[in-house]
Amino acid sequence: MVEVSKHYPKSKLPIIYERSNVNERAALRSSPLYEQLADELAAQISTGVFGPGDKLPSVRQVSQNKGVSVTTVLQAYQLLEDRGSIEARPQSGYYVRFIPLPSLTVPEPGFFTPPDDLEEAQIDDLVMMVMRDSTNLELIQLGAAQPDPSLLPTDRMNRILSRLARLNDIHQNMRGLPEGCIELRTQVAKRAFLLGCSIAPEDLLITSGCTEAVSLALRAVCQPGDLVAIESPTYFGILQAIETQGLRPLEIPTHQRDGINLEALDFAIEHYPVKAVVVMSNYHNPLGSCMPEENKRALVDLLAPREIPLIEDDIHGELSFSDQRPLVAKSFDQNGLVLLCSSFSKDISPSYRVGWIAPGRFFTAVQKHKMATTLSTPILLQHVIAEFLDNGGYDHHLRKIRRAYAQKVTQTVHGVLRSFPKGTQISSPEGGYLLWVQLPRQVDSLALYREALQVGITLAPGYIFSSTPKFHNYIRLNTAYMSFAAEKALDILGGIVQKMAKA
Ligand SMILES: Cc1ncc(COP(=O)(O)O)c(C=O)c1O
Repeated sequence: MVEVSKHYPKSKLPIIYERSNVNERAALRSSPLYEQLADELAAQISTGVFGPGDKLPSVRQVSQNKGVSVTTVLQAYQLLEDRGSIEARPQSGYYVRFIPLPSLTVPEPGFFTPPDDLEEAQIDDLVMMVMRDSTNLELIQLGAAQPDPSLLPTDRMNRILSRLARLNDIHQNMRGLPEGCIELRTQVAKRAFLLGCSIAPEDLLITSGCTEAVSLALRAVCQPGDLVAIESPTYFGILQAIETQGLRPLEIPTHQRDGINLEALDFAIEHYPVKAVVVMSNYHNPLGSCMPEENKRALVDLLAPREIPLIEDDIHGELSFSDQRPLVAKSFDQNGLVLLCSSFSKDISPSYRVGWIAPGRFFTAVQKHKMATTLSTPILLQHVIAEFLDNGGYDHHLRKIRRAYAQKVTQTVHGVLRSFPKGTQISSPEGGYLLWVQLPRQVDSLALYREALQVGITLAPGYIFSSTPKFHNYIRLNTAYMSFAAEKALDILGGIVQKMAKA
C-alpha cells in the first residue's frame, strides 16, 4: 500500500513551513524582511491555514513569535493589504478577505478523484475517498459505515455534557490515567455480563475509539514482521493497523453466515507462524456475519493450546435485530488470551472517540502502549458516556435503534433485489447496518464507485476489504441513511450496474 501523499498532486500539497526564525532565513534571501514575512503569511492564506474571514495573529504576537520588530510586522500586513488579500478592521485587527483566492488549494469533500486504474488507486487512497465522501452531505451516503445521526442520543448526551461542564469539577481538567476513568470502566464491566463475560473494571482500559483498541491490541501481542491471520474480507481499518505496524496479513476465507473458516484457520496456524488472529465475531464489517456460539467456542479452543492471542472486535455487537445481543468469543476464554475491543461509535456517537479494551493477560502491555501513544482518553467525554450508560436510558435507546436498523436493512435488500441485475447476491445479516453485495463478475466496483459519484451517490468498493483485488466485483452498502431519496438512489445505482453488467 502507498501513502495518500504519493498520489496527491505535489502542487496541491500544503507547504509546510518550519517554525524557524524568520531572521535566519532572512540571511539566506535578499528581499526585505517584511516582504519575506508577508510571503510566508500569503502562503498560509493560500493553503487555507487562514481562510476567508479568519483573524490573523495580532501584530504583537507575530513580532514576539518571529523575533522581528512591530514595524516589520506592520509593513508586512500593509503589503498584504495592498495585494488585496487581507483587510484591517478598526479596533479589531487584520482579517483574510472574502475574495476567491486563485491559489486556494484546500481539499474539499469529494476532492479526491479516483485514479483510472487500480495500479494507481492504492487501498489507502480508496479508503480516504470513501471517508471524505462521508463528510459531503450532498451525496447519498451508501459508503462509509457511519450510523444514522438521527438515531444517536445527541440531545440527551448534550444535556449531560452541559450539566457536567457546568459543574466545573477540577477532575475534568486533569489528564486522567491511561486506563481511563473508573466510572466508565465500571459501567462497561456491568454490561460485560450481557456479553457472557465476567470482567472487572480493573481488567479494562478506555481507548480513543475501537480503532485505538485494536491497534493497541496488535502492538501488545505482535512484533514488526509478524504474521496476523485476519478474515477475508475484513474491515479496512484492521488492514491499515496491520500495515502501519509493519505486520503481515494472512487472509482466511470468511463465510457470510458462520464467520471465519475454522478449517482454513487451523491449516494456516499449522503451517505458518501466525502470531495473532483478528476477528469481528458479531455483525462483521462488511459481511454482517455473526459467528454461531459453537464456532466462537471452537475458535477459542483452537488457539488456546498454541497460546495464540485472539483480537476480537465487537463494535457492532449491540446492534442485534433481536432483543438479545450475541455473546462474544471472549466468554469462552479461560486463559486470558482474548483481547476484546469495542467502542460507543456505532450506538452513542462516533465523534466522542470513546472505546474500550479488555485485554486479558496482556493488560500491562496494552497499558504501556496506551501511555506511549495517547496517554489517556479525554476525561469529560468518558464521564458523559458513563452517565448515559448509568441512567440515560441506554437499553431503551438500543431497543429503538435495533428496530430501526432491522427495517433499514430490509428496505435496502428489497431495493437491491428490485433494481440490480440477475446474478447479484446479497448478505442477510441479523444485526448491524451493513450489506455485502456481490455483483456480476464483469462489474468492477471501482468503476461503479466512479460512475455513482457522478450522480451523487457514494458506496464502498470491494477493493478496500482485502489486500488483494479479489473482491473487485463486490460493494458494501451502508443502510443507515436509508430514506426515500436513498431508495431512489438504489434504483439509479441498480441501473448503472445493469448497464455495466451488459457491457
Ligand atoms: C469493525 C470496526 N472496527 C472498528 C471501527 C472503528 O471504530 P471507532 O470509530 O470506534 O474507532 C469500525 C468503524 O466502522 C468498524 O466497523
